[in-house]
Amino acid sequence: MFAKKAVGAALLVLCAAGSAANFEIVADDMRDIEETLKAVDSDVALKNAQAATGATTLEAYFRQVESFYAAKPDMAQAQTFSHAAHEHTLALQRALQADDFTAAADAVGQLTRSCKACHDAYRQK
Ligand code: HEC
Repeated sequence: MFAKKAVGAALLVLCAAGSAANFEIVADDMRDIEETLKAVDSDVALKNAQAATGATTLEAYFRQVESFYAAKPDMAQAQTFSHAAHEHTLALQRALQADDFTAAADAVGQLTRSCKACHDAYRQK
């Protein structure tokens, strides 16, 4: 039973090839993301190029969050919030690539607000 499940999961991973088929929203991952966001926020404030590394992590994470909710048609609000969060991480990356730390700070601010919007709607209190 377990072995069968594991093989199924492995196949799913292979088939999905980079999509978020096995992704789950986990509090621990979210806490890591919060730490990353804080680090990026201060790197952006200090105009530190290191911000790009954290931005890559944030973009990859919210890309998965977006795909996760995209597969859940009954969670329209979460789809909107996760799409917005992902868009803000993309805007952050574009701003950093352009060395535009003002736009980067704006993207970090909008991303931070998008965290709260989704939590207000979905996180267990
Ligand atoms: C699309 C929805 C969504 C977005 C956007 C989102 N989160 Fe979450 N977050 C959740 C859900 C759902 C949980 C609860 C997960 C659980 O308890 O298993 C959670 C949990 C958390 C937790 C854990 C809290 C705790 O201690 O229980 C932290 C920290 C967190 N999120 C940070 C963030 C940060 C920072 C951002 C933005 C950069 C963000 N989240 C964006 C949905 C979202």
